[in-house]
Amino acid sequence: MNIMIINGPSLSRLGTREPEIYGNLSYQDLVEKIKNYAAEIGSNVEIYQTNHEGEIIDLLFKADDYAYDGIVLNAGAYTHYSYAIFDAIKAIHTPTIEVHLSDLNKREPFRQVSVIRPACKATFMGKGLTSYLEALDYLKQGE
Ligand code: DQA
Repeated sequence: MNIMIINGPSLSRLGTREPEIYGNLSYQDLVEKIKNYAAEIGSNVEIYQTNHEGEIIDLLFKADDYAYDGIVLNAGAYTHYSYAIFDAIKAIHTPTIEVHLSDLNKREPFRQVSVIRPACKATFMGKGLTSYLEALDYLKQGE
């Protein structure tokens, strides 16, 4: 199965960005560990990171146009206010899974709202790298 993973704003700073919240794993290490796990379970992943809202939308449409089997999306702060990304997820047929490294329910009130969640098939959060791996497992199970 072919999965597109999309990481939004500031996720490239993992490792040095607020390590007390997001952990010490660098973005490159996160990418490598996701790729290794995907290979273990027999999935192909393509991983993108962008700081731009429109680029996230273009990637969602690309995944749909090229018939990817699923999308794993960490939209970063766009999660909390991007109706444009909500609309884009609603506009495609590729199952989209919301992931977050941190547990949004235990953070500031603005982070406890995810405007994209109603458009997503499932949400995994609060487990760092494992949130992504659980999303891959979820997609695999639905194969
Ligand atoms: C995040 C949580 C968001 O609130 C934040 O803006 C991020 C990362 C997470 O993975 O925990 O950039 O999506």
